[in-house]
Amino acid sequence: MTEEKNININIPEDELMKQKNYMDRIRAMNDEHFARTGKRKKHLTVTFGCQMNAHDSEKLEGMLEQIGYMKAEEEEKADFIIYNTCCVRENAEQKVYGKLGYLKHLKDKNEDLIIAMCGCMMQQEEVLNTIRTKYKHVDIIFGTFNLYKMPELLQTYLETKRTVIDIWKEHKEIVEDLPSIRKHKFKASVNIMYGCNNFCTYCIVPYVRGRERSRKPEDILKEIEDLVADGVKEIMLLGQNVNSYGKTLEDKVTFAQLLRKVNEIEGLKRIRFMTSHPKDLSDELIEAMRDCDKVCKSLHLPFQAGSTKILKAMNRKYTKEQYLDLAKKIQREIPNIALTTDIIVGFPGETEEDFEDTLDIVRQVQFSGAYTFIYSKRTGTPAAVMEEQVPEEVSSRRFNKLQEVLRPIITEKSQALHGKTLEILVEDVSKNDEKLLTGRTESGHLVHFEGDSSLIGEFINVEITEAKTYYLIGQRV
Ligand code: SAH
Ligand code: SF4
Ligand code: F3S
Repeated sequence: MTEEKNININIPEDELMKQKNYMDRIRAMNDEHFARTGKRKKHLTVTFGCQMNAHDSEKLEGMLEQIGYMKAEEEEKADFIIYNTCCVRENAEQKVYGKLGYLKHLKDKNEDLIIAMCGCMMQQEEVLNTIRTKYKHVDIIFGTFNLYKMPELLQTYLETKRTVIDIWKEHKEIVEDLPSIRKHKFKASVNIMYGCNNFCTYCIVPYVRGRERSRKPEDILKEIEDLVADGVKEIMLLGQNVNSYGKTLEDKVTFAQLLRKVNEIEGLKRIRFMTSHPKDLSDELIEAMRDCDKVCKSLHLPFQAGSTKILKAMNRKYTKEQYLDLAKKIQREIPNIALTTDIIVGFPGETEEDFEDTLDIVRQVQFSGAYTFIYSKRTGTPAAVMEEQVPEEVSSRRFNKLQEVLRPIITEKSQALHGKTLEILVEDVSKNDEKLLTGRTESGHLVHFEGDSSLIGEFINVEITEAKTYYLIGQRV
């Protein structure tokens, strides 16, 4: 798959100029290296965590390309490795530490290898201390608020050959339009806001991503228009809680109003967004989703837990009944909408009866898909010090039970599409079978079908001939 460039240069001028300068300086060195050795230096950016992080990595890759690095296929072939980390659950962190140990071995073999770490994990002091003391082979460390400074930090490292650490406690300014590389020519992610103010009691995100702040609608619209001019047909609007978009702006604007404006952009075909918090999902948004032809009729609406008691302890600010009413209203107002969700089991204090409420929501709403998690204790969050932490074996049992209840529902939703003709955006060659292509329906279902790779990036119609739980098989019509 070729990668597409999107270079807009209109960062607040002084910062942009500064970083551009660093990029030019390192590029000159890299060009000189190429002239001398005939080899281009290579980078690899490894991303953990959510779409927010994935999108940040696209910006890092955009800058790295301007610096003159080519992309390496694997760590062994890279001269500069960046780990963009996640800390939302303990296993996300364990994965990073595991891989970091392996990087030590690479660094021992090649002392010119540069290793950088950034992202959410780095915003926690204990993590920083652990890396400083136990993983001394890490050369550059930065956080979520100063990603755009990567060229400057790299330059400092190249000059001093000493560990460079730059972590900010909070954001300063929104740096607009960093160079960015996206994986697909035809689809792109666009940040509409950063941070989160909700402080769900289990969640570390507000601590590592800072306070909620929205980008101005004109900046967002301009970015999307530029992307569309560059071949993008589908966009994903990103925010931890898109429904509270606009609240921090001087000129107040709602997410529904933004959606309507994005919907008017000519040439754009599909609009998706995530994540929606149930407490802020307004009737105005439901109407906008229904009215806007480009907005996909699919909605990710995490409920986390079914019991009102647990929802209160989680600080989610809605009850079981409110969630059910909302989900049913959406299903009534937007027929055929595909609802997906996130669910946590084993939150402190969760009893069997509370867990039954979770299963009850699953059964009543009939989700098309769900991300399910076992509660993971995050130091510094209120839930970490709550009494009645649920033992691992109880959480595991509930987790398995949840899968048992979810699976037939998701299968049934998928099978309801059997025999239907659906429009898909063709995305890629199938990972498991080179003869197959994969695409996505408006509802977000994955479809495999036989076809030529020239179809990638096109909208085509397929008839669904087979429906599995997590994917569909189709035939072009
Ligand atoms: N802002 C989004 C989600 C961010 S994190 C939202 O509010 O929906 C993605 C998911 O990870 C959450 O929805 C939640 O289900 C899960 N999650 C977050 N913190 C967790 C924790 N400490 N343990 C287990 N799952 C967690
Ligand atoms: Fe975390 Fe809650 Fe914010 Fe989502 S809304 S990022 S779960 S605090
Ligand atoms: Fe995302 Fe993980 Fe950070 S879920 S916001 S990368 S903690």
